[in-house]
Amino acid sequence: MVQGYQENYRRSIEDPDGFWGQAAEEIHWEKRWNRVLDDRTPPFYRWFSGGVLNTCYNAVDRHVEGGRAEQAAVIYDSPVSGNKQVLTYRQFRDQVARFAGVLRNLGVQKGDRVIVYMPMIPEAMVAMLACARIGAIHSVVFGGFAARELATRIEDARPKVVVSASCGLEPKRIVPYKPLLDQAIELSRAKPECTIIYQRPQESAPMVSGHDHDWEELMAGASPVDCVPLEATDPLYILYTSGTTGKPKGVVRDNGGHAVALKWTMKAIYDIDPGEVYWAASDIGWVVGHSYIVYGPLLQGCTTILYEGKPVGTPDPGAFWRVVSEHGVNALFTAPTAIRAIKREDPAGEHMQRYDIQSLRTLFLAGERCDPDTLLWSQAKLGVPVIDHWWQTETGWGIAANCMGLERLPVKPGSPTKAAPGYDVRILDESGDPVEAGKIGSIVVKLPLPPGCLPTLWNDDEGYINSYLSTYQGHYLTGDAGYQDEEAYLFIMSRIDDIINVAGHRLSTGAMEEVLSAHPDVAECAVVGVADELKGEIPVGFVVLKAGVQRDEKEIASELVQAVRDKIGPVAAFKTAMVVKRLPKTRSGKILRGTIKKIADGREYRVPATIDDPVVLEEITDSLKGIGYTRKV
Ligand code: COA
Ligand code: AMP
Repeated sequence: MVQGYQENYRRSIEDPDGFWGQAAEEIHWEKRWNRVLDDRTPPFYRWFSGGVLNTCYNAVDRHVEGGRAEQAAVIYDSPVSGNKQVLTYRQFRDQVARFAGVLRNLGVQKGDRVIVYMPMIPEAMVAMLACARIGAIHSVVFGGFAARELATRIEDARPKVVVSASCGLEPKRIVPYKPLLDQAIELSRAKPECTIIYQRPQESAPMVSGHDHDWEELMAGASPVDCVPLEATDPLYILYTSGTTGKPKGVVRDNGGHAVALKWTMKAIYDIDPGEVYWAASDIGWVVGHSYIVYGPLLQGCTTILYEGKPVGTPDPGAFWRVVSEHGVNALFTAPTAIRAIKREDPAGEHMQRYDIQSLRTLFLAGERCDPDTLLWSQAKLGVPVIDHWWQTETGWGIAANCMGLERLPVKPGSPTKAAPGYDVRILDESGDPVEAGKIGSIVVKLPLPPGCLPTLWNDDEGYINSYLSTYQGHYLTGDAGYQDEEAYLFIMSRIDDIINVAGHRLSTGAMEEVLSAHPDVAECAVVGVADELKGEIPVGFVVLKAGVQRDEKEIASELVQAVRDKIGPVAAFKTAMVVKRLPKTRSGKILRGTIKKIADGREYRVPATIDDPVVLEEITDSLKGIGYTRKV
């Protein structure tokens, strides 16, 4: 790889075929591609068309054959269950190949979908790679979602099989998965043929004979199967993410572009070599988990850490540093919120000092805006570079980053540095013209997106165009607003839609509003993301009751909180709903959510010229004061 950020960036934009063609040499192909960038059918671009490969082979078998058979592939470290387990590449390959046999025995073929609804246990990774091995398309659903969210995903993906476990383990409670899964299947119009349940010792799931199969029993009766050859453009997985409505978007990832891009990022962005230890403290249910717990580190022949625990409370704020020292972690990737949680409980870094963390070279942060305080605190305490980088479920890897393996650029707190190679990032105004340095605009990427990014949405080419490509012709809309400074450093400031980031989790306030509106006493509502010291943002709901409703407002508010928990899930962290007399609106009836947010955050706001009745803003301010908001964070 050529050193130097600028030279790499320039080549990636001017000569994408040469740049990515060279990166693709690092992947094992059954048949080489005909075209690196296939731009015959814009706005749909494909990478490495004509190429044939298998992602599981590249991530697992290749390392067994290439001398890493006895190296740890996965280290499972679970403070919530008290378990630790090391799986070498050979052991991991054997499990993956056998579970692929299990899926085959159940009739799963190339192109069939398999939903994986599992906690952070090695079997979840085994299930994902087994799908990749036989060309089945996995769709992992995060465990903190409620049955209804799971149901929407089942209905859209139409899986042949759902793989799940009896329970997840949260620090203070066991989360039984099977009842949620049963309910989701009941709610969904599409029904999987069967389920496979991994029974955990903490709680066993009741099984329905003939429909629910026991993981261990099936494994005992299955034979290993080999990797099948797949087109580079065949889908590897679908990952649903919050969109601007209650209906999640099925982001598709292909095999070829994904493998090439992720392997390239391991060195170029993370500066990690084969054999080193990489830890993404995220969840396999999120894109960070897909890319950097599972595929990236394995494609690079690294040891990846699968951590089932929290940054604090399992058992203390030293948890991350214990894992780093025990397993010799070289790069750690987490969300700023996790660092804020640690900092809050261990401001002086005393827990950190209990461990030898010399192996750690870099801390990478992403998932939400990184406040300079968090960056500077962790840098000072850890004594290593702390690198913020910006990306999305849709892109699968960093759009902007300080590419540590190419050239370490100076860090500007508050900025994820510059556009990563492959991304032609532009900042546009409402009419599509570029804005000058320092001015905020809509952040877009000129097409084509680099390999590894979404080629489309699952079964929804039109939705792909409408959501991402129709605002600015020839450009992908990131949905983020921000600016670039004179030196091309990017600053990501806010979303232009209703998406909020709660503890690094991407959620749609629109989806929460749908839940609140469905309450029989609610006439109208607004949910806004309010600044929160720990989680970055938390959702707060404002509801206006239907005329004549005389019930206790507190009771209604707690029903609303429960409804969001039941329908979206605990991960939404929706804890505050308040009844207000009216919502501030424009004369044309648009709810002024942005102004409510500013009031709640204690920020200055201008009374919009188009407001229908300014007195409503005073009423909202009073209501927020009543529950302790309208303070600066
Ligand atoms: N299964 C079931 N429930 C889950 C869950 C899962 N996989 N993950 C979270 N939840 C639940 C939690 O138990 C909690 O429920 P509660 O309301 O009953 O307490 C709720 O969802 C919110 O969870 P969480 O976001 O983890 O908040 P927290 O208050 O328990 O912990 C932090 C706060 C900051 C420690 C935590 O949010 C954290 O570790 N964040 C890092 C996030 C991250 O890595 N994101 C990935 C992007 S890179
Ligand atoms: P997700 O798809 O869950 O990864 O969420 C993507 C969104 O999170 C982005 O569109 C941003 O709004 C936000 N985000 C992720 N990383 C960063 C970052 N480093 N800085 C600012 N915002 C970020």
